Amino acid sequence: MSALPLTRVPFEPLPAAREPLRVALAGCGVVGGGVLPRLLDRPDVVLVSVLVRSPGKIRSPEPPPGLVVTDPAALLAREPDVVIDTLSDASVSLALIRAALSRGVHVVSASKQAVAADVDGLSALAAATGVTLRYSAAVGGGVPMLEAVQLAREMGPIRRIEAVLNGTVNFLLNRLATGYPFEAALAEAQAAGFAEADPSADLTGRDAAAKLFLLSRAAFGATGRLPDRVEALGPDFQSGAEPVRQLAVADCAGGQITLAPVAGDPLFADLADAGNAIRITLADGRVLSRTGLGAGRAPTAESVWADLTDLLTSRVGAGADGAEL
Ligand SMILES: NC(=O)c1ccc[n+]([C@@H]2O[C@H](COP(=O)([O-])OP(=O)(O)OC[C@H]3O[C@@H](n4cnc5c(N)ncnc54)[C@H](OP(=O)(O)O)[C@@H]3O)[C@@H](O)[C@H]2O)c1
Repeated sequence: MSALPLTRVPFEPLPAAREPLRVALAGCGVVGGGVLPRLLDRPDVVLVSVLVRSPGKIRSPEPPPGLVVTDPAALLAREPDVVIDTLSDASVSLALIRAALSRGVHVVSASKQAVAADVDGLSALAAATGVTLRYSAAVGGGVPMLEAVQLAREMGPIRRIEAVLNGTVNFLLNRLATGYPFEAALAEAQAAGFAEADPSADLTGRDAAAKLFLLSRAAFGATGRLPDRVEALGPDFQSGAEPVRQLAVADCAGGQITLAPVAGDPLFADLADAGNAIRITLADGRVLSRTGLGAGRAPTAESVWADLTDLLTSRVGAGADGAEL
């Protein structure tokens, strides 16, 4: 088995570590808007640009007007050291990540669809230009799932991963179990900010499939593949007495996403609202699990921030005058 680089390899120390870190923020919606105030608050960070699609949109928080651009090339022209990608358009994300890595710019991405579309190519590009690609927020939102997989790998070979990876679907299944009609449950998920205006990636299982793929690559290296079977959740779903979860399961032979009964398995059965959870079983039988909020502004921005903080820490480690972290 050829192992991929672990997802939390240390950032390459930056040479000009005495200067503030130049950060460009791509996307200023749910996730980007959660990261923005932190960027503006750090003396060792300078925000150089913010990429959005509709610059006239009312936002909370508002980015500094002089920094707003609508073209990814204009974002990179501000010469950032790091691009934080929180775009909702996976093809624009993927092109931006490639362009940034090619120029020797570090990338922290929240976009599972963009990273999963070419995780090997992007990792190779980052290695070739001596920078790092991080995407902790892309899997598990605020739950450090990739970090848990890395820790498990350090303990020994992984036999199996089981996880609930989509907060929106978990929220819906909980509501449906209490007798909500499907459309009412979906409307509530959208009002609560869990489900997007177009929830098809969640409902078809595409979102969970991309996340399971990234976890499988981290756990099983090159043998980690896209799931062979992905079951969708739709209005015809019949809730029974037993709790059901959108369960993502993978081993080195493959994976699947199914709507599976989980009675008697409290890690998954007791997951409230937009909860996510993962259980990693090692070949020797030891088990690691993590649970928490898989979506939403605060937990996801926290995860992005953890990746960025690693970069700042690496600069301090390189001898900078950097602020206390
Ligand atoms: N929301 C969550 O809980 C969560 C959790 C984990 C991961 N993620 C991932 O994080 C990413 C962002 O999610 P989000 O919920 O923050 O989405 P969002 O609220 O819709 O924000 C997306 C941002 O991307 C900008 N954008 C989209 N297409 C663009 C384009 N072609 N050019 C320039 N800007 C563009 C939008 O600009 P405008 O504001 O002008 O429209 C917006 O600021 C997605 O990949 C998502 O899968 C989200």
